[in-house]
Amino acid sequence: MKILVTGGLGYIGSHTVVELQNEGFEVVAIDNLSNSSKDVLEGIEAITGKKPIFEELDLREKTKVQDFFARHGDVAGVIHFAASKAVGESMENPLLYYENNLGVLVYILQELIKKNNSNFIFSSSCTVYGEADEMPITEDAPVKSAESPYGNTKQVGEEIIYDTCRVNANLNAIALRYFNPIGAHPTAHIGELPIGVPQNLVPYITQTGVGLREQLSVFGNDYPTEDGTCIRDYIHVVDLAKAHVVALKRLINGNNQENYEVFNLGTGKGSSVLEVIQSFERVSGKELNYKIVDRRAGDIMQAYANTQKANEVLGWKAKSSLDEALKSAWDWELKVRR
Ligand code: NAD
Ligand code: WQD
Repeated sequence: MKILVTGGLGYIGSHTVVELQNEGFEVVAIDNLSNSSKDVLEGIEAITGKKPIFEELDLREKTKVQDFFARHGDVAGVIHFAASKAVGESMENPLLYYENNLGVLVYILQELIKKNNSNFIFSSSCTVYGEADEMPITEDAPVKSAESPYGNTKQVGEEIIYDTCRVNANLNAIALRYFNPIGAHPTAHIGELPIGVPQNLVPYITQTGVGLREQLSVFGNDYPTEDGTCIRDYIHVVDLAKAHVVALKRLINGNNQENYEVFNLGTGKGSSVLEVIQSFERVSGKELNYKIVDRRAGDIMQAYANTQKANEVLGWKAKSSLDEALKSAWDWELKVRR
């Protein structure tokens, strides 16, 4: 069965391609390599014994999207990862984000509704909840007005899919709201490759550990949490990738209750920044050089998932511990810098 994975050479996409191939799916990956490299194909092959079919294509070119679906009428499902994802950059260049994250989504949906039956998985984010009033966060928690154009593209993206599903019974879609994906494949053949200075905590920690950055800045220790630092739900990228296969099978097998569904993907456990640092120090045997600095503008105090819906309805549960995730991130960092 043929599955299209957009952004298939990116961080979460490449791990999902591995899980799809392990489950016997034939994968076609599309990527424009704006935030990834062709070497990822070798990494995927090293793990699964097989390279996915790869098309280097910029999905912003609508005619190319149309042409792709004309050539691949037998696609049984689409997992749509391709997007721009840097919150800060989205403040500087909002139209890039609206074009890439929403324009492309529209082009793909326009092709999918032409088919008798189509299955679509969308990469959404816990960012849609903003600073939620209650922890852990359920899927029913209100969607808060987005703090950045990036966050807005995830909210509006979900609305575009919902509105399209409402009038197209032939389209089945699931939006997956990821909490904080971290780590790499345990083989260290694929992982996260941030371009430039990492904005996210775990790559910043591993790059500091390996000597590429001098010191990690911990953004604030005066939050009303146990140790004063912010709390997030860090989920191993392999667990996250497996959830996509489960969600896709739900659609392919027609087990979905409605033609638009939303699931949180997290571990259900909140960890503070200092706990992540301690986990890194445990698994790497290194002492991390860090200092406490002022809060980062726009950060929320805490966000962790209620995973009951994903556990019970999808039948999926995150398995890896924080230590396992940090260990895999560290192994990957060591391999990349060797
Ligand atoms: P990533 O940047 O590693 O992967 C995205 C891939 O899409 C890249 O390989 C990039 O080259 C490709 N791409 C971007 N625009 C494209 C275009 N126009 N045409 C073709 N390819 C294009 O990002 P990721 O971390 O793997 O994120 C995947 C998805 O998950 C994104 O939609 C992101 O917004 C979402 N998400 C990520 C996180 C996170 O923390 N990583 C959290 C929540 C949601
Ligand atoms: C985690 C914690 C920081 C870096 C972002 C996006 C969100 C989502 C995931 C896609 C926070 C602290 C970080 C550093 C630090 N992406 N930190 N020093 O902010 O939860 O979410 O990525 O949808 O939309 O906003 O993740 O990894 O940046 O931060 O102290 O150098 O680590 O303050 O508490 P965040 P993050």
